Order: sequence, then C-alpha cells, then structure tokens
Amino acid sequence: MGPRVFFIFLIPLLLISSSTHAESGEDGFISFGISEKGLEFAKDLLINTAISSLIPLQLPEIEQTARIPLVGKVHMVLSDIVIYQVNVPTSIVQPGEIGVTIVASGATANLSFQWSYSYTTWLFEISDSGVAYVQVEGMEIGLTLGLKNQQGTLRLSPQDCGCYVNYISIQLNGGASWLYQGIVDYFEDDIISAVEDTITNKVTDAVIQLDSVFQSFPKEINFGNISNLNVTITEGPTMTPTSLLIGINGLFTQIAPKVTSSHYTNSLLSTGSCNDKEKMVRISVHENVINSASMAYFNTNKMYWIVDDLPDQKILNTAEWRFIIPKLYKEFPNDDMTLNFIILSPPIIKIENEGIIAFLNSDVIINVVDAGEVIQVACISMEIEASGFAGILLSTVNGGISLSKLTMSLKWSKIGNLHMLLVQSVMSRLLKSIIIPVVNLRLRVGYSLPDFQGYGLQNASIIYDDSKIVVCSDVARVFEYIPDRILL
Ligand SMILES: *[C@@H]1O[C@H](CO)[C@@H](O)[C@H](O)[C@H]1NC(C)=O
Ligand SMILES: *[C@@H]1O[C@H](CO)[C@@H](O)[C@H](O)[C@H]1NC(C)=O
Ligand SMILES: *[C@@H]1O[C@H](CO)[C@@H](O)[C@H](O)[C@H]1NC(C)=O
Ligand SMILES: *[C@@H]1O[C@H](CO)[C@@H](O)[C@H](O)[C@H]1NC(C)=O
Repeated sequence: MGPRVFFIFLIPLLLISSSTHAESGEDGFISFGISEKGLEFAKDLLINTAISSLIPLQLPEIEQTARIPLVGKVHMVLSDIVIYQVNVPTSIVQPGEIGVTIVASGATANLSFQWSYSYTTWLFEISDSGVAYVQVEGMEIGLTLGLKNQQGTLRLSPQDCGCYVNYISIQLNGGASWLYQGIVDYFEDDIISAVEDTITNKVTDAVIQLDSVFQSFPKEINFGNISNLNVTITEGPTMTPTSLLIGINGLFTQIAPKVTSSHYTNSLLSTGSCNDKEKMVRISVHENVINSASMAYFNTNKMYWIVDDLPDQKILNTAEWRFIIPKLYKEFPNDDMTLNFIILSPPIIKIENEGIIAFLNSDVIINVVDAGEVIQVACISMEIEASGFAGILLSTVNGGISLSKLTMSLKWSKIGNLHMLLVQSVMSRLLKSIIIPVVNLRLRVGYSLPDFQGYGLQNASIIYDDSKIVVCSDVARVFEYIPDRILL
C-alpha cells in the first residue's frame, strides 16, 4: 500500500477523535475539511487498498484428530489455507465517541487449502489428500480507530476490531473427496474461527503499521530545497456528524523574519464554507501561507526584470521621452533605453472577499545605451497595487492580475528633476499594456498542482473568504492527459 495514499486520504478519515482538543487556532494557516462525500470516497479507497494489501492472506494450519465411527482415530491436516479474494458490497463510515468506525458488511471471501488425512488400522496406514475451496459468506468486519493529536503528529490506535463470519461452504476436490466431504465439514468451526481471528489480527496490525508510517512522516515538507512547509497539526481534528476538519501550521519556513501581515485570530475550523456542499474536500489557505511562500521565494531568488525588448520598441528610445524628460533626450538623443525592474521586498498578498490584492515595492532604473555602454540615468521607486484572481482548471492553478494603483517617486536622477506626473502616465501605460499582459500570459498558462499517488483535485472551485482562499473540490484518480492550454 502506498503510504502517500494513506497520508492524503486516510489521515482525514482517521483524524476523527473526540478526545483531542485544538491546541490553538492561532498558528494554523491551512485547514482541510472533508465532507460526507469525501469521507465516503476515502472509506472506499481505504477498504480497497486494505483488501489488496492483505490478500493473499495466509491462515494458520489446522490440525485435528477426530474419532470417526467405524473408521477409528483419524488425523486430518488442513494446510496452505489462503484467502485469495474478498468482496465488500456495502460499507459505512461513522464518526463516534472514541474514534471513527468503519464497517464492511455482507462481505464474501474465497479461500483454498490443502487437505490431507491419514489413519492407521492394525494392518496398514490409509492416507489421502487434495485441495478444497471454501466460500465464506456474510462476513462483517468492523474497526474503530482511536485518534490522537500527539504534539502535532497523528497517532492511531485500534480501539475495537472484530470479524464475524455467518457461514461457509466447503467444496473438496482431488483424492477420494466424496468420501471425506463430511469429515471436512467437521472443521467448519475451526475454519470460521481461523478466518475471524486472522482478519481481526491483520486489521489490528495494519492500524499499528499505519501509525508507524505516520510517525515516520516529517513535520516539514521540503519544497525544492528553497523552503519547508510546516505540516504540524495545530488544530483539530474536529468532527461534525457529516464532516471532518483539521488544521496544520502550513507556513513556509527557513525564512528569516516573521510574516508581518495581519494577525490571525479566528479559528480556521469554524468559518467559511463551500458554496457547493457536494464537494469532497474544502481546503482553506490563509494569506499568511502565501506571504510566507512569497518571502521564501524572495529570499532565495533575486526578483528583477530587465526590459530591453518590447513589441512597442519606440518606448525604449529617448526620442519617445523627449517631451516627458526633455533633458534625457537632450543629453542622449535617439539612444536606446532599457528599464531594470527590481522588486525590493517580498510581494505582500492580501485576500479579501472580492479577490486577491498584491502589494509590490519596486525600483525602476532607467538606463540609456549610448555607444554600447549602459548608463544609469535615473531611478524611480514604485508602489504597485494589483488585484487578481485565481482559478483551477483540471489540475492547473491559473489566474490573472490587473493594475489597480500606482504611486511613484523619484529616488535619484542624473538628468535633473523629472516631471513625475508625466513619467507616471508613461510607466502606467507600460505596465498596463505590456508588462501586465506578459505576466497574465504566464498566469493563464498556470502552474500544475502535484498529484498524490495518482489522485488529484477535480471540479475544483475557488472562493475568497476574509484573509483566506478556499478551494472546494472533488478528489479523483488523475488520468494522463495533455492539458489543452489556451494561451490567449
Ligand atoms: C468466490 O465466492 C463467490 C461467492 O462467495 C463465488 O460466487 C465466486 O465464484 C468465487 N470465486 C472464485 C474465484 O472462486
Ligand atoms: C535538493 O538538494 C539535494 C542535495 O543537496 C539534491 O540531491 C536535490 O537534487 C535538490 N533538489 C532540488 C529540487 O533542487
Ligand atoms: C511548526 O509549527 C508548530 C505549530 O505551529 C510550531 O510549534 C513549530 O515551531 C513550527 N516549526 C518550525 C520549524 O517553525
Ligand atoms: C465532476 O463534475 C462532473 C460534471 O458535473 C461529474 O460528472 C463528475 O462526476 C465530477 N467528478 C467527481 C469526482 O465528482
């Protein structure tokens, strides 16, 4: 069984515990909510994964000596008892007092074994052997999982596990099987107990194993050696009759200063809801997460952009600026220009009910290329406010931004004082008509979301809540496809 599949789908399912209380809502920034539909999906996935990991299931050998009328003392051995198929037609998942209970009912199983048989008369020994097939009918398997948040890590424990077999039918093949059918039937109870005990023990073991898989998970997930995402559980798990909620710290670390955006006080788990209650999962991401990622990115990548080639190349010639900065044209007539955009601090993202707002501080250095030499002539500092939106199409996040506010001031100049109002109008045109469309082109292509063991988001929608982005989505197997990306 892929531990990752369990991580994604079981954790939520298993996180249901009434005994755990939220430590604090103040340092959790990503929350996961799983609806009834999501729990159903996780349960089915869990049962199918569990079955395929348990099968073939070997049962202990059964050996018995029976006294049979007319024959005498008969020694019989059933060996190689293997359950090779299990079918679960119906199952339920039910959150309860001590944990979550999963019941598979009406299950059937097929098993096979070798039978051999011997007895001794005063003259000679008689023995025979063959193979037998057993149909197990009306099996009920129930499991209650206890869940605990232990110092930010999930602990699982098998609280209650049972297996009950209604009846079995045994079909012998080989040897003089017709002769021994009745004797084998004599073992019915032994086989039933062996099935019940083995399944109970195996399921219990599986939970203990799963718990150790959880213990081995790091509390931080590394992203491209740039930053770590803190996945410490900070809130919940909290259960309602139809959903499960859990919060993780969710901040990107390895970032020097603390995130400075508005302090987060509400409980993540209590607010916001999907418009569409039919979706399986609800993932809420606080703006602090995005800001911590922005800071991590900023600290490891220089964020700058040299503009030296534009569709409207005229704007990169001093002639175009002769009325705006006459002194520039006078000193460098008809020279090419380049612009260096330098982002000075991590972009700050705010999420409001209407969408995303990004604040950017940047410097723009105006250069003139005179006889092959790049000469810095002025520097303007810009405060940019952009509004944006994000969307999810298939497994790609995309979005768009538009300029909503621009303020500028002159930082330094070698060409005297600039008429900032005029400069601002040119810069604003440059941003709106060239730079923002280029950024939007990239955002429209989007960024692929990772899938986990072949499962990913489907039919996702995004809503904005105060300071949070909420993604409501179904989860489904991701099939390989070439996304049809429409660029323009
Ligand atoms: C398994 O058992 C079911 C009934 O419990 C039966 O219908 C099916 O044919 C069996 N499959 C095999 C492969 O023996
Ligand atoms: C991260 O660092 C390790 C070891 O330094 C290296 O093997 C690995 O390729 C790096 N991963 C990325 C995504 O850069
Ligand atoms: C991860 O989050 C937990 C809970 O918020 C916090 O106590 C811990 O210090 C964080 N770890 C790092 C490395 O920041
Ligand atoms: C996604 O939506 C389509 C159309 O509404 C639906 O047929 C499909 O089942 C949905 N996917 C999941 C995983 O629910």
